[in-house]
Amino acid sequence: MKAGHEIEVLIRAKYPILYIVSWEERRVEEAVAKVCADLKRTLHTWSITQGMKPPVNRTTGPVKPTALPGELEALALIHESPEFTVFLLKDFHPYMRDYRVVRLLRDLAARIRGRAQTVILIGPRLELPTDLEKDVTVLDFGLPDNDEIAAILDKVIDAVKDNPAIDSKLEPAQRELLVKSAQGLTLDEIESVFARSLVEKKRFDIEAVLEEKKQIIRKSGLLEYYAPESNLKDVGGLELLKDWLHKRNSSFTDKAREFGIPVPKGILLLGVQGCGKSLVAKAVAANWNLPLLKLDVGRIFGSLVGQSEENIRKAITVSESVAPCILWADELEKGFAGVSGGGVSDSGTTARVFSTFLTWMQEKTAPVFLIATANDVTKLPPEMLRKGRFDEIFFVDLPDGPEREEIFRIHLAKRRRDASKFNLKTLAKATEGFSGAEIEQVVIGGLYIAYDAGHELHQKDLLAEAKATVPLSVMMREEIDELRTWAELRARPASRVDE
Ligand SMILES: Nc1ncnc2c1ncn2[C@@H]1O[C@H](COP(=O)(O)OP(=O)(O)OP(=O)(O)O)[C@@H](O)[C@H]1O
Ligand SMILES: [Mg+2]
Repeated sequence: MKAGHEIEVLIRAKYPILYIVSWEERRVEEAVAKVCADLKRTLHTWSITQGMKPPVNRTTGPVKPTALPGELEALALIHESPEFTVFLLKDFHPYMRDYRVVRLLRDLAARIRGRAQTVILIGPRLELPTDLEKDVTVLDFGLPDNDEIAAILDKVIDAVKDNPAIDSKLEPAQRELLVKSAQGLTLDEIESVFARSLVEKKRFDIEAVLEEKKQIIRKSGLLEYYAPESNLKDVGGLELLKDWLHKRNSSFTDKAREFGIPVPKGILLLGVQGCGKSLVAKAVAANWNLPLLKLDVGRIFGSLVGQSEENIRKAITVSESVAPCILWADELEKGFAGVSGGGVSDSGTTARVFSTFLTWMQEKTAPVFLIATANDVTKLPPEMLRKGRFDEIFFVDLPDGPEREEIFRIHLAKRRRDASKFNLKTLAKATEGFSGAEIEQVVIGGLYIAYDAGHELHQKDLLAEAKATVPLSVMMREEIDELRTWAELRARPASRVDE
């Protein structure tokens, strides 16, 4: 149990106040109880409904009930209590809005620092006043690991072993798969999904577990599961980017680790609208055969201030629990815009969320490959682009002639047309300055023209549609030029330059 170990280390190192962010109160309580037993500390738990349990033996002062509100009383009790104690305060975050509580906690931190005494706050949300940031150590209590999941599985199997109607037998390979599929769920969720599968299907059903997991990920509202649809073969051009990705096809295997290859961190795809950035993200997932989780960057910040920080942590935890996977942060600048700017309106929340994200990018060891996309570099904070965050920054430009031919070929084939019947060179020439998305629209528009006229799709339909289109690059000429100048020095081209 990694999280339990971290708690133990922090308690032994005499960190005064810990804040554990988790929905899993029961699990955290069990882990803390175990650590306390190992370290021979007395554990007291407190909640507003139950008060302090077991009661504290005061070393000083009169033992008489006070008129203090519960939360202040609790802190006063801790202040007077002897060493070798640990206090677990449940759902304490709402009280930290009170300046008296903040002050008392700071006093307490000063008093017990260096003493064998620890205060542990636990709650499902991270809500920490800035004043307390230096005194409180925040730690995430990770979701159950494989060993813990296996233990729950055994418990569930044990509960039904005498029931002849239920087939709870599992081949070792099936068992491993089942345990893996339950990663990312909380203890309670795992227990219910296993039990439900047995009740409904009379056996363990991996599909049901995966379905449940998708539900839960969906419910979080921050991440979205994407079914793999397109493949890198459906991406026209961008040869250098595709090469780079192909080279890393099997870099998530144990074999690659043994060979000494580090897990790729991620890439930033920067570039002109409609040129295939989002498409590549989806295609890589299919090629690497990894689950694709799309991070809703807007939603992370959209919610109530204060929750944003919790949101980003949650998204990170969930994605790590699904690892190996691809985390796709589409249109990154939408979320992180304004970090370098004012930040006045949200009292630094954006900056804090951003720094959590950056730290994670820098330090993450879990095989989560981040694919971020962006159109506007000027809105991205420069720290984000520094070396070490992304493996590579690719600039995705408008497709050149041969690339446009290939994109035509792909989209004609997609609509079950034989591309060899069209003069792709002419089409490419007629679509100078078009993005991939616009070429796709030319094919669709051409089909409409042909359908309306009652004949099969001809070259001239496509040319007519192309002629009627004003590509975005004409209207956005200056922006694109600016982006190119920027990218020339700082990013790697995604396409081969043939000239
Ligand atoms: N290089 C390409 N090859 C094949 N199809 C492409 C290519 N580029 C774009 N398309 C088509 O255009 C559609 C839109 O492209 P995509 O969403 O990937 O663009 P984007 O770069 O993410 O744009 P934005 O910056 O607006 O998000 C794709 O789904 C695909 O059908
Ligand atoms: Mg996109």
